[in-house]
Amino acid sequence: MQKTNWHTFAEPDDVAAAACAFILGQARRAIADRNAFKLVLAGGTTPEKIYHLLAQSQADWEHWHIYFGDERCLPVTNKERNSYMACRTLLDKVTIPANQIHIMPTELGAEAAAEAYRKTVANADVFDCVLLGMGEDGHTASLFPGRQHAQDETVHTVYNSSKPPPERISLSAKTLGSARRVLILVTGAGKYPAVQQWRQGVDLPVARIECEQGVDVYIDTAAFNGPND
Ligand code: 6PG
Repeated sequence: MQKTNWHTFAEPDDVAAAACAFILGQARRAIADRNAFKLVLAGGTTPEKIYHLLAQSQADWEHWHIYFGDERCLPVTNKERNSYMACRTLLDKVTIPANQIHIMPTELGAEAAAEAYRKTVANADVFDCVLLGMGEDGHTASLFPGRQHAQDETVHTVYNSSKPPPERISLSAKTLGSARRVLILVTGAGKYPAVQQWRQGVDLPVARIECEQGVDVYIDTAAFNGPND
């Protein structure tokens, strides 16, 4: 059963500022304890503000290790790739060593990319912080409602995804939830219906991410209380 810590904020900018502070705090703690901070980035548009804020922050970048929660099967230079957005907003602006940035090689196609990334995940050991978004149907990463995946896989292949492009790979719910902390970012009135279902206990993919500490949800009032709040 998912433990969910809800943190509501007035506006998306407040969510972004709080999330940035949370991530920097987790990084300081991980580097102090283990000399490394292993962060899994979310795709989509919600995290962009956060990545911009991180890029303007002071951090021990040489001890950061970057992974991705999911990726779309597109050419490396395609602007729709999650890695493209992460590089544009953060990774090209800070001094994280290139060999510590683990981009999902989805230009190879889902099968080959998933196989390669299973090895990356195995070598990563425990992630310190996983960032996730949520779609209006309650999907997270590329885990979509109604889709079945092999329970023992750490990385899934995804075909005919309901959110274009159709082919993707995604870390499994179990792998995402195995992190020390999970931060789920939700903003905008469009997400309200799925948030309502989530809070009512509907079995959505986002509700299946179970973290020992409980998942932390940073959400604005439009998504939490609905558009007329
Ligand atoms: C993707 C993301 C996806 C995203 C949600 C929310 O590849 O699209 O991994 O899971 O996080 O769809 O997207 P927005 O932040 O754009 O609303």
